[in-house]
Amino acid sequence: MARLSIIVAPDPRLKIISKPVETVDDRVRALMDDMLETMYMAPGVGLSAVQAGVPERIIVIDVAKDPDPPAPVRLVNPEIIWQADEIALAEEGCLSLPEYYADVERPAAVEVRYLDENGETRTIKAEGLLSTVLQHEMDHLEGILFVDHLSAIKRGIILRKLVKAKRLQAAGE
Ligand code: NI
Repeated sequence: MARLSIIVAPDPRLKIISKPVETVDDRVRALMDDMLETMYMAPGVGLSAVQAGVPERIIVIDVAKDPDPPAPVRLVNPEIIWQADEIALAEEGCLSLPEYYADVERPAAVEVRYLDENGETRTIKAEGLLSTVLQHEMDHLEGILFVDHLSAIKRGIILRKLVKAKRLQAAGE
């Protein structure tokens, strides 16, 4: 396994619409393992392949909390097949927007169909944190970041600060 580098916003690579995976093979499984390792080290609860520079419809999630054992979920070509009418407000962060958090409104529950790491079709019904993370990661596959759900003013503040941080980092290197 290898750690991947995570692209930090603003970056045009995060706006790419990810392509469907044709075959869930060893390449895809190895990528998902690398994504999980990268996510756990960050640490984070979800990661999409596009955040590692691979614009394919692959996400990994683990919302288990200590002391529970890890519960990684690997999803290929996920699709929302049902969503609740109720809206839930939850605080979100993103490994591509380090250190920024904001409340985002989304459907309170979703059902998602996907291929697992063996290429088998599965469905998962989720509410609470798992629902939020699923929708957040699936947004990445469309080139959407959680700040895109905020007002232009809030989004602008966060993105300008990230640009400034990148400049400072580049100057320090
Ligand atoms: Ni994210």
